[in-house]
Amino acid sequence: MTSTQPTGVESPLDALPDRWRSLREAGPVVHDEAQGQWRVVDHRGVSAVLADPGTYSSDLTPITPTQQDFETFRRGNFVGMDPPEHRTFRTLVSQAFTPRVVQGLAPRIEAVCARLLDEVADRDRFDLVDTLAHPLPIIVIAELLGIPAGDHRLFQEWAAVLFGGDRLGDSLDTADLEKALEAIAPTVREMNGYVLDHIRHRRARPGDDLTSRLLTAEVDGTRLADEEIVGFVALLLVAGHVTTTALLGNAVVTFDRHPGTLDTLRGDPGRLPGAVEEVLRLLPPFPELGRRTTRPVVLGDHEIPADTLLTAHLGAANRDPSRFDDPDTFDVTRGPNPHLTFGHGIHFCFGAPLARLEARIALHMLMERFPTLAVPSYDDVAYQNPAVIVGVRHLPIAVTRP
Ligand code: HEM
Repeated sequence: MTSTQPTGVESPLDALPDRWRSLREAGPVVHDEAQGQWRVVDHRGVSAVLADPGTYSSDLTPITPTQQDFETFRRGNFVGMDPPEHRTFRTLVSQAFTPRVVQGLAPRIEAVCARLLDEVADRDRFDLVDTLAHPLPIIVIAELLGIPAGDHRLFQEWAAVLFGGDRLGDSLDTADLEKALEAIAPTVREMNGYVLDHIRHRRARPGDDLTSRLLTAEVDGTRLADEEIVGFVALLLVAGHVTTTALLGNAVVTFDRHPGTLDTLRGDPGRLPGAVEEVLRLLPPFPELGRRTTRPVVLGDHEIPADTLLTAHLGAANRDPSRFDDPDTFDVTRGPNPHLTFGHGIHFCFGAPLARLEARIALHMLMERFPTLAVPSYDDVAYQNPAVIVGVRHLPIAVTRP
């Protein structure tokens, strides 16, 4: 099944294909004067940048502001590390976060989805983000870490402060960013303190959870320090929450804008994974990944100095016509689908199997529970800043029941 044109009213998401096409036409390497950064915008160039951490470092600390409470995050936050440190950390946490652990979460994810949807059992209109897309990934991560159920709400509250507005999203200006970091520092401190306590409890009384397994994981005689586990937990929340929330909202919006999709998927649920991949390709929650040049480089006709911010534009690369036929078409049968939404190379998303599992279970349950599901008015939808996160912040939907 394919459908080229979304129907209905305009939304900020509709503007993205044109914006990204203009970038590609100006590419493959584009200088953004206003933000003083470079963008690589074609599929080949983006893949090459992400595959070369020696030249394009993930450690942005020398060129971005920070704040003391965030330094704790840094220690176990391997998305911002380069080899060889990155490898040690990733190998350590991979021991605790195996494909079997992820697959074993399926019954819990189903139970959490069912419980969250039961809360709106008597409603024919509700906000998909508040009800399901926002709490689901936080509760799953909290469960994974062995956080007691009574405290899951704390995680939801912290996540709302950290990612609820776009305090860290709207502006890339250094002064604004410093102010935003100050404003959320007390929440970061509280969360760090809670997670440290949780780690100490688990050290005394290990359970069958990710935190306990992280405490005993070992590479070349090295184990994780408690503060490094705190940083990793924060990374899980940052990387695994906003993105999955965005994916679920983007899927519902995409299905709604392409009438007939839900019926097709109900008739053949085996197509749901393909549909999720297309949503990921067309609307990558993180549209751009930042890197720092470690030496002067020549890209295209441009000479770029060392210590310059360069972004790999996943949104533009995912619609590169030299890699994808009819790149703006939503095609649930597309295959292969080499989108770059989960990154590429050594930092390839660690949680991709979990994100896919959550999305498939949640969307399947929505389709099963509701014979019709629609977005009644796009005027009532609130969006994230699409330059930073491609996703909705509020998504009121109308449903019918069998
Ligand atoms: C890394 C996207 C869900 C954990 C990444 C990267 C991307 C990404 C693009 C690479 C960043 C870079 O190269 O700078 C996404 C998207 C998701 C998602 C689009 C959902 C739709 C998750 C989930 C988790 C997770 C559910 C965990 C629970 C991580 C971690 C890394 C990462 C730990 C760092 C990997 C490394 O540096 O080696 N993610 N992510 N992500 N993601 Fe995800």
